[in-house]
Amino acid sequence: MTRYPKRLALMLVPLSLMAFVGWHHAPRNRLALTPPMGWNSWNHFYCNVSDSLIRGTADAMVSSGMRDAGYKYVVIDDCWQTSRDSRGTIVADTVRFPHGIKALADYVHSKGLKFGIYTDAGTKTCQGRPGTYGYEDQDARTYASWGVDYVKEDWCNAKGLNARVRYALFRKALDKTGRPIVLSICEWGSNQPWEWAPAIGNLWRTTDDIEDRWPSMLSNLDQSSQHSSVAHPGAWNDPDMLEVGNGGMTDDEYRAHISLWAMQAAPLIAGNDLRTMSEATRIILTNPEVIGVDQDSLGAQGILVQEPKPELQVWAKPLRNGSHAVVLLNRSEKADTISAELPRVGVHTDSASVRDLWAHREMRRVGGKFSVVVPSHAAIMVRITALLLATNT
Ligand code: GLA
Repeated sequence: MTRYPKRLALMLVPLSLMAFVGWHHAPRNRLALTPPMGWNSWNHFYCNVSDSLIRGTADAMVSSGMRDAGYKYVVIDDCWQTSRDSRGTIVADTVRFPHGIKALADYVHSKGLKFGIYTDAGTKTCQGRPGTYGYEDQDARTYASWGVDYVKEDWCNAKGLNARVRYALFRKALDKTGRPIVLSICEWGSNQPWEWAPAIGNLWRTTDDIEDRWPSMLSNLDQSSQHSSVAHPGAWNDPDMLEVGNGGMTDDEYRAHISLWAMQAAPLIAGNDLRTMSEATRIILTNPEVIGVDQDSLGAQGILVQEPKPELQVWAKPLRNGSHAVVLLNRSEKADTISAELPRVGVHTDSASVRDLWAHREMRRVGGKFSVVVPSHAAIMVRITALLLATNT
């Protein structure tokens, strides 16, 4: 062999490796580079969706400050559709959506928001409405013509179908329209989506449906956290939508819920009635410091790093500027002290500042440890920054 091909071969190896790494990390549609934020009708309204609900929600998204806090997708879940016409085009409920879906999408866009819709990979949706099976291209074209920016695709009535194949097919149909559309895969973690969904969807459910109860929220957290290594910009584990403000948990529990979702770089899709929410709920949903952790551009999913006692946990997430978000979670029935050891959360100096992201103030720090009393069913969320780093940034 001559010297030239050998040199060429040596150059090709790292180049091809770089190409591989680049491909893996670059989401195909360049969407959802941080976890999607928005609102979805299902958790509060179930099938009770309508034009006036969606318009009112878009208005409230703006007037409540949620849009400016980062929430942008307004998504109609199941039950907006009733049938197909003689050409196979999906038909919206004309009583509930008298102006049609395009006019509604235009309204949502006019508020500086994005518009999302729901379908199902099978023959019917979970509520028995027409599914997209066999109509993928046609539905994708219809959605694009309406101005849809986000599609959640469910997995009911899909018996015998191959999830990876069906979701890839729909992804391709969306891409063919030329409109940038986020794909939210919703097969509840039943076909190991963490193994294939990052190349197809921008987010994929890892669990069954969340319920507005503390144990359900924790169970979704625990399941989703097993797949932290696959999350990256453009591709996120989805432990399901938020229940904040729906009434089944205390405000402490809701603060823990959104803190833990932010730690997991989970999509923040509110699921309450934005038009009538309390000021306490509004403040929980729009906390800029918590949202900042969720939306951090590093895109790492936080993990459980310490469990000093059963039901007392320390979760940590590295952030782009070198600081770390930490949640001290008390899952137990009584208040208790939780200590986080700085090296275990990724901070390798005793000289660090600790900022409480709910109280919005600096906290006292103690050597190489950080201890605080956490009420029952609650979380304390902080950002820890090595002081040298703080003076440099
Ligand atoms: C499934 C999904 C839910 C919701 C309903 C609608 O249960 O997981 O999030 O979309 O269907 O029927």
